[in-house]
Amino acid sequence: MVVGSSNAYDVAKLAAEAIVKKFDGQHDVLAVLGSGWAHAAAVLDAVDEISVTEIQGFIKPSAIGHGGTLKSVRVGGSRVLLLTGRTHLYEGHGVDAVVHAVRTAAFAGCKTVVLTNAAGCLRTDWGVGATALITDHINLTGFSPLTGADAPAPLHGRFVDLTDAYSARLRDIAKKVEPTLHEGVYMGFHGPHFETPAEIRAARVWGADLVGMSTVMETIAARHMGMEVLALSLATNLAAGISGEKLSGDKVLAIGKAAAGRVGPLLAEILKQIDKESKHN
Ligand code: HPA
Repeated sequence: MVVGSSNAYDVAKLAAEAIVKKFDGQHDVLAVLGSGWAHAAAVLDAVDEISVTEIQGFIKPSAIGHGGTLKSVRVGGSRVLLLTGRTHLYEGHGVDAVVHAVRTAAFAGCKTVVLTNAAGCLRTDWGVGATALITDHINLTGFSPLTGADAPAPLHGRFVDLTDAYSARLRDIAKKVEPTLHEGVYMGFHGPHFETPAEIRAARVWGADLVGMSTVMETIAARHMGMEVLALSLATNLAAGISGEKLSGDKVLAIGKAAAGRVGPLLAEILKQIDKESKHN
């Protein structure tokens, strides 16, 4: 796919048509499971599922801990698409591949997207294992999903407002489920290398509480498609240079695994609460 090509939207439309056909109708919510969050898929009973390799434009994620399945789940009166793993910028397939699931879900009827991720934490008062709602982001990837030709009608308009990128309404709903959830600013890096201690010191000065390698492209694309965004981070480590310990992908995964039994059910409960407060109820 060429970055910013209208072709990317055409492929997402085709993918959406295939999903609507396979799962027999439209969905309301897309939930993307990042590292540590995959347990939610076990907590929620899938009505049906499909390997992403069978859907146009999807690439099986190569990041460890990321699955390649799209599940259709019923949560109360809502139909939820559950994606068990995402494509990251650092996999090198381009921005359109990173946001393809979000655009596809929008074309398949979803008005809400719930993004989850593993993140490095700058807040020693939160600590490893903390869960936080993202209130805003700083995009340090150097990319935008809206680069290139303007989107085809009716999606014209590449100057998307990101003032309320992360929905305060959805954050309130999440806090009804778990009042102890932290709230913070997520700084998105390209990766796949971890940040340097100097970058983390700069991130702190700029107002970041969390750092990671996902979420920001998906949020921008979702806002462009008119979706409401909720994003949650699991702090799998203190960010580079804070604890003096070296970072590794394996440690991130190990903490993610250890937290799975806690954050999976949390996500399931948040999806239930979103359903309770949705318009169709
Ligand atoms: N930095 C970037 N991405 C991450 C980190 C980190 O420290 N931990 C988990 N994902």
